[in-house]
Amino acid sequence: MDRSGDPMKGPPADRRGSISFSRPLGDHCVHMGIELEGLSSKAIPGQFFLIRERGVLDPLLGRPLALVASEGNVLEFLFRVSGRGTARLATLPPGAALELRGPCGNGFPEPVRNELVLVAGTLGIAPFIGIPSFCSERVRITAVLGVPGKGWEPFVEWCSERFTGIRINSDDGSIGRHGDPVEDTLLIVGQRHEVWGCGPEAMLRGLGRVHEKGCDRLLVSLEKRMACGTGGCLGCSIRTGSGSKRVCVDGPVFEWRQVFGGSHEI
Ligand SMILES: Cc1cc2nc3c(=O)[nH]c(=O)nc-3n(C[C@H](O)[C@H](O)[C@H](O)COP(=O)(O)OP(=O)(O)OC[C@H]3O[C@@H](n4cnc5c(N)ncnc54)[C@H](O)[C@@H]3O)c2cc1C
Ligand code: FES
Repeated sequence: MDRSGDPMKGPPADRRGSISFSRPLGDHCVHMGIELEGLSSKAIPGQFFLIRERGVLDPLLGRPLALVASEGNVLEFLFRVSGRGTARLATLPPGAALELRGPCGNGFPEPVRNELVLVAGTLGIAPFIGIPSFCSERVRITAVLGVPGKGWEPFVEWCSERFTGIRINSDDGSIGRHGDPVEDTLLIVGQRHEVWGCGPEAMLRGLGRVHEKGCDRLLVSLEKRMACGTGGCLGCSIRTGSGSKRVCVDGPVFEWRQVFGGSHEI
């Protein structure tokens, strides 16, 4: 993924594709490449695609997955098998026919600060994988990852190969530091840092504590259930300090304060 040329503008397109590779990363995750028919697709980190099996009515809705990388016509994704849709996707062989809608959403901007900290809860790392090649060289990147622990070693190893500076935290203490990624982030951030987070809502809410460390630039990428991905169904609406927003078109990347800063429930 590079930032040359314009990111995709206008409404996301519906495209046909087929699985070019599908590799398990331990028991929980899959790294998948999908070859698009015809057009290649320009997208920026933080944007996502709705992905579904072509010609299958159940499940009907595409599942949103963040774009991890792209090379020519092949788009790469990283996903956790969490329910019916992703379990089905994980069993499909190379060559299986898919439909993709995207790229959707706003994606991440160029960081304002030179020190960027990417905080991820498990698969929350997916939209961050392309960040090192997307940011200009002035930006020093540290990734802070949290995983449950045992069984997640192949996933952690895969992620570690993609960041020169990565701090690993696990709930059971079996991989890296024993603890959660928010506590770890608080050890390293200050005024000169910019922090981006992606993961469970409780983690993102807790990340607001970086403000107490003087860090006032905090963005989060939200995950909500989605149907259309184009802003039409309102299924992904959230309440924010500046009114109702649709995560699929106004996000998924928001300023932390806009989402969690007020007394409203999102
Ligand atoms: C913009 C965006 C980008 C995403 N990128 C990735 C990614 O790169 N990799 C990845 O593994 N996952 C990602 N997700 C989450 C992923 O879309 C869900 O895990 C997936 O849709 C679950 O579908 P399912 O049919 O397997 O599970 P379901 O049977 O639908 O649900 C299984 C469990 O997941 C929860 N869930 C379902 N949909 C979502 C959702 N959209 N967000 C949060 N929880 C959900 C359900 O409440 C349930 O507990 C992303 C979500 C969004 C909105
Ligand atoms: S998924 Fe339909 S408006 Fe966002």
